[in-house]
Amino acid sequence: MSILKVTNLGVQFQTNDGVVNAVNGVNFELNKGQTLGIVGESGSGKSQTVLAMMGLLAKNGKTSGEALYHGQNLLTMGAKDLNKIRGDRISMIFQDPMTSLNPYLTVERQMTEVLELHKGLSRRAAKKRAIELLDAVRIPEAARRVGMYPHEFSGGMRQRVMIAMALLCEPELLIADEPTTALDVTVQAQILTLLKDLQRDFGTSIIMITHDLGVVAGLCENVLVMYGGRAMEYGQADDIFYHPSHPYTIGLLGALPRLDHDGSELVSIPGNPPNMANMPKGCPFSERCVHSSARCVSELPPLAASSLNPQILRACHKPAEELVKAAEEVTHV
Ligand SMILES: Nc1ncnc2c1ncn2[C@@H]1O[C@H](COP(=O)(O)OP(=O)(O)OP(=O)(O)O)[C@@H](O)[C@H]1O
Ligand SMILES: [Mg+2]
Repeated sequence: MSILKVTNLGVQFQTNDGVVNAVNGVNFELNKGQTLGIVGESGSGKSQTVLAMMGLLAKNGKTSGEALYHGQNLLTMGAKDLNKIRGDRISMIFQDPMTSLNPYLTVERQMTEVLELHKGLSRRAAKKRAIELLDAVRIPEAARRVGMYPHEFSGGMRQRVMIAMALLCEPELLIADEPTTALDVTVQAQILTLLKDLQRDFGTSIIMITHDLGVVAGLCENVLVMYGGRAMEYGQADDIFYHPSHPYTIGLLGALPRLDHDGSELVSIPGNPPNMANMPKGCPFSERCVHSSARCVSELPPLAASSLNPQILRACHKPAEELVKAAEEVTHV
């Protein structure tokens, strides 16, 4: 069952340098209990895509298009209704836990406050639930630690606290904006396993924003690869991970650390993301793309079904067939 359908989503910022089109015509759909990964380099429009849906854009930001959550457009909904959905049905975890934890309140107070307010629980029942949730995110000695302040937790534990907070109202949809980038690899893996387990136990749908296509392959059913505020490739995560058919996705995969390499060949995609206030007329990636042609510079490629796999949508003038060899070099399939 589809719970969220985003159509032609746009985000425009009014700035002194003119209008910044941070997100352009983005489409995706999310089913109950499924995970969508949104992947791309810094500045590709990942965060603004989800912030727009949550009504959390900066003051100079405007949206266009539609984001239907159970048929209701989040983009045009009144503040009161949106607040209710945000408190009860959709919650967000951010990269830096300190942005959503109050440093002056114990974790217990922060958690019980929400439960008393949104779920009408008594203080006692709320504390019991708070401890259960800290247990669920595998914080050792939860009953004792619930009384601690955020700064008394390590980075990884704080991230778990934040996930527990996000789960307080048993949201139907959890949006995680790079929840693991600040953590070391081992803790990162633990948090991702935890999210998977929670999804199994609670049936939560997840939108996972990350730079790392490796994270997506392990966790997500579908993936949206973004660049310059646009969808470059969209479809099943495994298909895209093992058979990427867009030069940008291939570039991202080439920049991933691999088990069979010693890391010395690791290259990021040469060049820099485009200036959002002055986007190229054609494909946003054309300036950095090794397959770019004159047409790529002058004409924006539409997002269309791949000729190799119609389930995959890709925005590229070069036929997918001609990229198979380049893709094999990064995936070794
Ligand atoms: N308030 C604003 N005014 C003008 N431009 C903005 C504003 N907020 C964001 N942008 C621009 O929107 C673009 C997309 O930003 P976004 O935060 O979505 O990137 P991102 O993909 O989440 O990157 P990162 O991985 O670094 O978090 C960026 O070019 C950014 O500079
Ligand atoms: Mg971001």
